[in-house]
Amino acid sequence: MSILEVNGLSHTFADKQLYQDASFRLNKEDHMGIIGQNGAGKSTLIKIITGQQLPDEGQIKWQNGCKIGYLDQYAQGAHEMTVFEFLKTAFAELYRISQEQANCYERYAETMDDKLMEKAGRYQEILEANDFYEIQTHIEQVMAGLGIDAIGKDHKVSECSGGQRSKIILAKLLLEKPDVLLLDEPTNYLDTEHIEWLINYLNGFSGCFMVVSHDFDFLERITNTIIDVAFGKITKYTGSFKSAIKQKEVKKEVQLKAYEKQRQQIEKDEATFGKIRLEHGQQWQNQDKKGSTNWTGLIRLVMRFRHTLIFHMSN
Ligand SMILES: Nc1ncnc2c1ncn2[C@@H]1O[C@H](COP(=O)(O)OP(=O)(O)OP(=O)(O)O)[C@@H](O)[C@H]1O
Ligand SMILES: [Mg+2]
Repeated sequence: MSILEVNGLSHTFADKQLYQDASFRLNKEDHMGIIGQNGAGKSTLIKIITGQQLPDEGQIKWQNGCKIGYLDQYAQGAHEMTVFEFLKTAFAELYRISQEQANCYERYAETMDDKLMEKAGRYQEILEANDFYEIQTHIEQVMAGLGIDAIGKDHKVSECSGGQRSKIILAKLLLEKPDVLLLDEPTNYLDTEHIEWLINYLNGFSGCFMVVSHDFDFLERITNTIIDVAFGKITKYTGSFKSAIKQKEVKKEVQLKAYEKQRQQIEKDEATFGKIRLEHGQQWQNQDKKGSTNWTGLIRLVMRFRHTLIFHMSN
């Protein structure tokens, strides 16, 4: 079952064609790495699938009701909240339910209406099922994992550096537990210890993800599938980073061999044609002068080139 289907994607910036009629799928079990040279179009691809950039052509189809969490390469946005308040917004819906429950109790004190207590009980079940009472611990764990505790939970997000903000936004995204995580170069602002924590987190992540990275060791440890953005194409390989690179090399070798074989065949055909022209040139010229067709020469020519025609038609 595909979470995302990209079909016939084409996009050009100025005179740079990033993709031409490219297609791929993101499946439920995919832990996908996105690789490609600088400027190949990896970040643009993330922007296109999140709807921030309209492609020239192509269909982007997400599975209905799918919750997407996205961290862009430069993690924009200044927030007036403290770090902790900001991270709590990952659970905004649960806090809303908790507030509804408090309202129920308040109104019950005034009205003694049992229906309000029943409603409060149902809210309680939702809160417990979603670990509402563990939120604080959960936030603290993620803060420690990504090194945000060193910034301080009462520090204002707007006063944090770009790198610190990226970590905080990543933390919020992970706390939200979306169905799909889209991370553009998440290790840029992390040191080794925190990259290690993120690797463990992503390996235990039950949803699927797409991660852009130039850090090959990181990719090797988190991926089970790779897409390679290169020369206008998007190629999907199954397996981790190293396995994808191996498959890419094999594919390139096969293509080179096929190209070499075709080149040799063309050279051979041209040599044969040259020889036939030498053999029959005078005969054809005589026939031309007489104004009639040299059928024998033509038939022999077609017979000798039969294999060449078949070869070129089958390619
Ligand atoms: N809004 C835009 N307008 C014009 N050109 C753009 C725009 N966004 C990106 N580009 C160009 O498109 C190309 C692809 O950019 P993109 O950011 O997708 O590359 P990338 O693969 O993410 O590169 P990197 O690995 O350096 O992050 C680049 O040449 C970039 O300059
Ligand atoms: Mg990029």
